[in-house]
Amino acid sequence: MEALLSWVEKRIPAMNTYRKHMSEYPQPKNSNFWYIFGALAMLVLVNQIVTGIWLTMNYVPSAEGAFASVEYIMRDVEYGWLLRYMHSTGASFFFIVVYLHMYRGLIYGSYQKPRELVWLFGMLLFVVLMAEAFMGYMLPWGQMSYWGAQVIIGLFGAIPVIGDDLTLWIRGDYVISGATLNRFFALHVIALPIVLLLLVALHILALHEVGSNNPDGIDTKLPKGTMGDDYEPEFKFHEDYSKKYDIIDSMPFHPYGTVKDLFYVGVFLLFFSYVLFYAPAMGGFFLEPPNFEVANPLKTPEHIAPVWYFSPNYAILRAIPDKLIGFVFFGGSIVVLFLLPWIDRCNVRSFRYRSRVHLINLIQFTISFIGLGVLGTLPATELYTNLSRLFSLGYFMFFVVLFIYSKNEKTKTLPTRITK
Ligand code: HEM
Repeated sequence: MEALLSWVEKRIPAMNTYRKHMSEYPQPKNSNFWYIFGALAMLVLVNQIVTGIWLTMNYVPSAEGAFASVEYIMRDVEYGWLLRYMHSTGASFFFIVVYLHMYRGLIYGSYQKPRELVWLFGMLLFVVLMAEAFMGYMLPWGQMSYWGAQVIIGLFGAIPVIGDDLTLWIRGDYVISGATLNRFFALHVIALPIVLLLLVALHILALHEVGSNNPDGIDTKLPKGTMGDDYEPEFKFHEDYSKKYDIIDSMPFHPYGTVKDLFYVGVFLLFFSYVLFYAPAMGGFFLEPPNFEVANPLKTPEHIAPVWYFSPNYAILRAIPDKLIGFVFFGGSIVVLFLLPWIDRCNVRSFRYRSRVHLINLIQFTISFIGLGVLGTLPATELYTNLSRLFSLGYFMFFVVLFIYSKNEKTKTLPTRITK
């Protein structure tokens, strides 16, 4: 057996990769609750892929057959209801997990040097995930699938000169039709999942090259020799890391990280199962009521609202009366996140050791983002539109003021070793 394993290992270093990226990966010892969401995002991704494959076995990607095939899955396919609800609930949980994962990066400054690429791959993941969810929502061919797609694809029409041709190219028809559904199906079930998997691999590789950040935001991989020539870390880490660095205040991912993640996987599954079995539509937030009606191009639903996870960006779009400017700010609300590593010019990462101004700015950003999220699901009355304008201002001002004060920020003294 040993000879066989070593034969394989010489040809494909599977065990070495496992040790490097899993069991002997140094995880800072103060990685807290906020550090579980990366692993949970991976779990949800696997859930989406597995349930998606089984749904595809009975789903019919045509304007005539799609809605009925989903009904068929729900009523006649054995455990079809479970597969479908695991997939639709999974989509919303994916965004809950990813939003919390991003928020962790924001408060602990994980996007800062040297983790810029980790953040950029993360942002690409976020954009592809949005596209994946948008296209998936179209597949049941309900009223909201149709009219939501109509609104979102219509947005591209606001782009000067090429707008009309671009929308025609995306739809593959003069209106949203079976042709649009077919291409969205192809992208949703094969093209974008491949891109997602590839990006996850790059995201992790980039992270493992520089190492995980932590709630104190201080370095735990120091240049070799910093701790003295005969420094031996408390634990054994993979030689690729320990030969290059003096690793401090860290523990091997297995068993410490794996046990912690497993515990939280249990907690997560409790929440997930509750929604899955008792409230799969989540009061109209995860599956909107008009989507239980088949798409009808002649009947516009009274109130078109995207699914909750698009609502912060949608609220920004709706807050601006001009179509083109609205589109620019809608796109800008995502683009600006890509630039975050360069907007924040402070050397201190974690909010724990940053200035009071930064803390206030973070709090106002959190309120603005949640405010926009709530408003994006409500009808556009005058009051709500004005509030959306206020919160949109708060959203963008976060980045503007951050750029200004972060250059000469009055930060607290950083500890040299991890505290708690
Ligand atoms: C499919 C989506 C994603 C998956 C599966 C994923 C997975 C992971 C995993 C497993 C980790 C290491 C464990 C952890 O620190 O939680 C991680 C770290 C990280 N991720 Fe993601 N991620 C995803 C999306 C994102 C997004 C959208 C962003 C932000 C734009 C992001 C930014 C980061 C950052 C900055 C780190 C390092 C954090 C630190 O060390 O403090 N990720 N990710």
